[in-house]
Amino acid sequence: MRYKVTVVGGAGNVGATAGQRIAEADLADVVLLDMAGELATGKALDMMESAPVLGFNAHITGGSDYALTAGSDICVITAGLARKPGMSRDDLLAKNTDIVKDVVANLVKHSPNTTLIIVTNPLDAMCEVARRVSGFPRERILGMAGVLDAARMRYFIAAELNVSVEDVDAFVLGGHGDTMVPLPRYSTVNGIPLPQLLAHDRIEAINDRTRKGGIEIVNYYKTGSAYYAPAAAVFEMVGAILGDKHKILPCAVYLQGEYDLNGLFVGVPCLLGKNGMERVLQLELTADEKAELAKSAEAVRELVNALPAM
Ligand code: LAC
Repeated sequence: MRYKVTVVGGAGNVGATAGQRIAEADLADVVLLDMAGELATGKALDMMESAPVLGFNAHITGGSDYALTAGSDICVITAGLARKPGMSRDDLLAKNTDIVKDVVANLVKHSPNTTLIIVTNPLDAMCEVARRVSGFPRERILGMAGVLDAARMRYFIAAELNVSVEDVDAFVLGGHGDTMVPLPRYSTVNGIPLPQLLAHDRIEAINDRTRKGGIEIVNYYKTGSAYYAPAAAVFEMVGAILGDKHKILPCAVYLQGEYDLNGLFVGVPCLLGKNGMERVLQLELTADEKAELAKSAEAVRELVNALPAM
């Protein structure tokens, strides 16, 4: 059986790059859905013309008609405005709410059993928009942020210690914003906890760079935000779900009492398998870590409270 993955915003940088990775790995057939239908059609054709050389069998199609997306196993939503220098992720709230509302309504009409992966910012609030519009159970609505934030932290740790990125694991919890919560105690180099390898001030510098990792790229790109690392994070989540891998990845998920949080999307470690989000893992947190997570959740709550009724 072949899987089908739709990427909305599929002609954009995050969407096209994610679609390309998914197809090249033969994880699924890919639909690049975009308002800019011809651009999406062209990108899909261009990618298909790489298939004979690269040797993948996935089919990639593109356009603006949601009929193309029917029966998708996973729908990745990257559509929306990206940040420009000086803009916070939260500045995007109103505009991207309208876009995500419309996209989710169209997707669920054609793929009522799909799993949604939200990438559009402000991430955690856009997950809530998707939840309200789709009415899906929480298992089938995931926000992509923790994998990206943790990947950035992993890279910074590896660079600082001059070790292989392959040996480095990291966890970042909380909302995908300035209040995200890097967890050095749960970050390891080949099993060795980070605090045993690096001085406190160096760890703090890595935490800080991780929190600002998105804006660091925006400041270089000027006209948009990161896409290689975000697309790689989407690819890992899609692979974990379609492969029923039971991978533990930090994702934004609708909490129902876990971490003393209720009725809110916040990034926490989740087990991903064929049913989407199959389990929330509860880490033991210190009082300081708990306070940071509560503060981050509060920032998400403020955005959610600012959402229009729907
Ligand atoms: C980032 C944006 C995509 O973190 O939120 O790069």
